[in-house]
Amino acid sequence: MRKIDIFDTTLRDGEQSAGINLNTAEKIEIAKQLERLGVAIIEAGFPASSPGDFEAVNRIAGTVKNSIVTGLARCVQKDIDTTWEAIKVAEQPHIHIFLATSPIHMEYKLKKSPEQVVEQAVEAVKYAKKFFPLVQWSAEDAFRSDREFLVRIMNEVVAAGATTINVPDTVGYASPQEYGALFKFLLENVKGAENVKFSAHCHDDLGMATANTIAAIENGATQVEGTINGIGERAGNVALEEIAVALHIRKDIYPVETGIHLHEIKRTSQLVSKLTNVVIQPNKAIVGKNAFAHESGIHQDGVLKNPETYEIISPALIGEGVVPLVLGKHSGRAAFRDRAETMGFNLSDEKLNKAFAEFKMLADRKKEITEEDLMTLLTEQQVQI
Ligand code: KIV
Ligand code: ZN
Repeated sequence: MRKIDIFDTTLRDGEQSAGINLNTAEKIEIAKQLERLGVAIIEAGFPASSPGDFEAVNRIAGTVKNSIVTGLARCVQKDIDTTWEAIKVAEQPHIHIFLATSPIHMEYKLKKSPEQVVEQAVEAVKYAKKFFPLVQWSAEDAFRSDREFLVRIMNEVVAAGATTINVPDTVGYASPQEYGALFKFLLENVKGAENVKFSAHCHDDLGMATANTIAAIENGATQVEGTINGIGERAGNVALEEIAVALHIRKDIYPVETGIHLHEIKRTSQLVSKLTNVVIQPNKAIVGKNAFAHESGIHQDGVLKNPETYEIISPALIGEGVVPLVLGKHSGRAAFRDRAETMGFNLSDEKLNKAFAEFKMLADRKKEITEEDLMTLLTEQQVQI
C-alpha cells in the first residue's frame, strides 16, 4: 500500500498562531506525544528565529527517536548553520528550507528577480546538503506561482540534492481540483520527481485545507503537512487528525497507509488544546466535544439500535471513551430510558413516562440537563408509590 508520510508542524506553523507561545518543556511534552501518535516527521520549530526556539528544537532532536525531527530555515547560510547546530544530535538530521516563488512575494517581499531566486534556492540546498542527509525545500506560496517557473526551480533544487519538495498553498487560496492538478502537473514535469517526496502543505483560509490535501494525495503527493486541531497562521493549517481518519475510514477509495496510531488522536488533541490554550470548537470534525454527540430523538433511537445508523466513526477508534447520548429537548424516550437504566433505575413504563414528561418540561426551560437533574427527577418517580 502507498505510504503517506505525516509531517507535523504543530510546534512551528501551529505555534505561529496569534496568541500561542509554548515553552521548551511544553514543546517537548507535545513532541513526545506526536512520536506516540506515529507522525513520520516533527517540525520542532525555527531555530534561527529565537534562542528559545533553538533550545526547544535541540532538546526535541535529542529526545525523539521514532520520528524524524526537523527545523525550519530561510535559504541563508546563517539559518542553515544554526539549524545544523540544533538538529545535529538527531538520528536522521533533516532541514526544511524555504523560499518564496510567487510573483507577488518575489517582487514585493524578497525584491529579487526569478533568476536570483533560483540561484539562492540552489545555493542553499547545496550548502544544506553538506550537513544534512535529508533536505526539504519549500516553494513558499507555490500555489500562486507560475507553473513553468515552479518546474524550472524544482528541477534545479532536485538536481542540487533536495530529498523532498514541498508545494505550499501558503494563503489557502486553492480549490481541491486546482491543487490536485498542480501536483499532477509537477509530478509529470519535474525531472527526477519519482526519486523525491512531494509534499502538500495547506492553509485553511477558505475552509478547503482538508479537501485540498486529499486532492494532493489523489494526485501523487507522498507527504502531507499539517497541525493537530488545525492550529496555525490565520485560519490555520490542515488538521492532521482529519486527514488520518478520513484516509482510514475511506480506505476503499484512498488505499494508503499513514502510520498514525489513531487511538492516540484524542489524547494528542487534548494535550495540544491544553498547552496552547486554544479551545477546540465543539463541532470540530473528529476531536470536537460534539463530534460523537447525538441529540435528536430519531438519531438516538437509531444509534441505540445500531450505532452505524448515524456514526461513521467509532469514538473508540480515536481513543475517545463512551460518549453518553445527549439529553436535551430533542431527545426521545429511548435515549431517556437507556440513560435511566445506565444510572441504575428500572422504572415501570408508567413511571418512566411520567419522568419523561417532566424531563421534557425541564428541557424546554434549561439549556443543559445535568446528571444531578436526572437523578432528582428519576429518584422522585422511584420513591412515589
Ligand atoms: O505556509 C507556508 O508556505 C509555510 C512555509 C514556511 C513552508 O509554512
Ligand atoms: Zn504554512
